[in-house]
Amino acid sequence: MKILVTGANGQLGSEINGLADSYSNLDFVFSDLPELDICNKEKLSQFVSENKIEAIINCAAYTAVDKAEEDFETAELVNATAVGNLVFVAEEQNLKLIHISTDYVFDGTAHFPYTEDYEVSPIGVYGATKRKGEEYVINSESESIVIRTSWLYSSFGNNFVKTMLRLGKERDELGVIFDQVGTPTYARDLAQACLEIFSKEEKLDQKGKIYHFSNEGVASWYDFSKAIMEIGMVDCLVKPIETKDYPTPAQRPHYSVMNKAKIKADFGIEVPYWRDSLKECISRIKEEV
Ligand SMILES: NC(=O)c1ccc[n+]([C@@H]2O[C@H](COP(=O)([O-])OP(=O)(O)OC[C@H]3O[C@@H](n4cnc5c(N)ncnc54)[C@H](OP(=O)(O)O)[C@@H]3O)[C@@H](O)[C@H]2O)c1
Repeated sequence: MKILVTGANGQLGSEINGLADSYSNLDFVFSDLPELDICNKEKLSQFVSENKIEAIINCAAYTAVDKAEEDFETAELVNATAVGNLVFVAEEQNLKLIHISTDYVFDGTAHFPYTEDYEVSPIGVYGATKRKGEEYVINSESESIVIRTSWLYSSFGNNFVKTMLRLGKERDELGVIFDQVGTPTYARDLAQACLEIFSKEEKLDQKGKIYHFSNEGVASWYDFSKAIMEIGMVDCLVKPIETKDYPTPAQRPHYSVMNKAKIKADFGIEVPYWRDSLKECISRIKEEV
């Protein structure tokens, strides 16, 4: 199967690239801006046809959660309208599609891990535009699924883990929010899940359109930071603070832990515990320095 990975220079796309050689039954075409803009429907259709693409993993997104609050048009274009383009091309050329979405489609008022059918109610522009993108996929006639993930980090790109490691070296003390709870996800684990689904050539249209994937377990950003300092062997005191003491342009859900039973049952995906994956990622970051 020949797979187009869009947004391939981002965290998830880079992790897929890193794993590609382990999947000899899959061929890949990696693309990103400026070569392939998923907002350009005609170019996308032409690119897919010329490269004889059979499946797409959409890793392209507008992921700047705070900036999205004032840049609604671009967020909407990339996270929603362009997903409509991908669905159009998938239907037109009979492709499989995995589209990645977010835990920020939930408002965070639940106290129990979210299942895929739990009511969505985004509280920010990023989550609202990602939800619109999901709707294109859910209503599609093509073999396509949405995988929602949360708190993504990687040895590639900029993310919370790298920021904490850097700040921890610069400062003696840091305040980190303890009243937002979710699950960190190593992008490499999500990349592997996507490739497992395609390598088994499972049908994507018979088992429901939305799946949840994060690492196992639960943490606040404070717990996550403590673990990063401990595993990264950085000597910095992390103190718990409340969301109200760290105001940001975008509101974020207070609780966004997701239930992963469906992806495990339907595709036999194994999900590592978040601290184990964090250890693996930090050792890769250290190797690269
Ligand atoms: N990061 C998280 O914490 C998180 C949490 C939950 C869900 N997710 C979802 O997980 C997926 C992967 O996230 P990520 O962290 O890997 O994202 P990322 O690192 O921000 O990568 C996104 C990539 O898409 C590219 N892109 C942006 N607009 C594009 C366009 N019009 N056409 C083609 N490519 C475009 C970006 O290029 P530029 O850098 O040049 O803009 C970037 O290379 C996304 O769907 C995201 O919404 C992420």
